[in-house]
Amino acid sequence: MARSLLTLRDISREDLFAIFERARIFKDKIRRQERVDVLRNKIVGLVFEKPSTRTRTSFEVATLRLGGGTVYLPATELQLTRGESIKDTARILGSYLDALVARVYAHQTAEELALYSGIPVINGLSDLAHPTQAVCDLITILEIKGGFDGLTLAYIGDGNNTCHSLLLGCALVGMNMNAACPDEYNPDSDVLEEALLIAAATGSRLNVLQDPIEAARGADVLYTDVWVSMGEEEEEETKFKVFRGYQINADLLKVAAKSAAVMHCLPAHRGLEITDDVLEGPQSVVWQQGENKMYGAAGILDFMLR
Ligand code: CP
Ligand code: NVA
Repeated sequence: MARSLLTLRDISREDLFAIFERARIFKDKIRRQERVDVLRNKIVGLVFEKPSTRTRTSFEVATLRLGGGTVYLPATELQLTRGESIKDTARILGSYLDALVARVYAHQTAEELALYSGIPVINGLSDLAHPTQAVCDLITILEIKGGFDGLTLAYIGDGNNTCHSLLLGCALVGMNMNAACPDEYNPDSDVLEEALLIAAATGSRLNVLQDPIEAARGADVLYTDVWVSMGEEEEEETKFKVFRGYQINADLLKVAAKSAAVMHCLPAHRGLEITDDVLEGPQSVVWQQGENKMYGAAGILDFMLR
């Protein structure tokens, strides 16, 4: 089985820092329009079961900028919709392509693609994890803060895929993380346990709590994600009620460190998980964070494919 990136459990702290360094170099080169052809003759397929603006485009553009080619494969246009198995699909795609980026509902689908394709599979979001998001977000934190030691990220909202990957990512880099989630929407206990094990070795402190103010007090980064993830549309009414207090707004920003940066994985819903004034305000690094998804993708692709 080729090496895949399905969750951040698949990479070590050293791997992660190696990806950051590659992303930094590619950012420099791509912005200067320097020719890079590390992915020459490599073709990356993108199997997407869900919509995407950033992940799909950043991985496609990063592949093209690094001299490779891409094939976009929306799941609705594959024989999967007519009952062909993931296993058979994976075997065929693996025989044509050099790597897959997959955005799926069930995490198990990404695992099966990795198991049967024989090529590296990069999880572009599943119900369990959003590892490439966390990698790119850590790149942004590194750019802004210059390191991770002694810093605290306060995650406000749903204990979802993004939260899971941030827990593992913060643990790997040795950054502290407070996740404030409503009781019934805590992060998955297995993921938390894994993250705590890593954190014990790196010195990162991870806390899951309920109170957003407690989580945000003195924090260096305030981070949020949508309240209702893709595939949870029928839970919208309930979640809108439960998450009402889990908003990044001016009051919450006041309790964070003076220099706190505000991050959002996007897409944003102004007036729900974040207010417009904070998203557009001077402490928001959201657009830099969004742009960095492309350089992070380049670093990940080079790391996985070279
Ligand atoms: N943040 C993120 O993954 O965005 P997309 O859904 O647009 O890919
Ligand atoms: N948690 C969100 C992330 C969107 C990029 C979702 O899964 O829809």
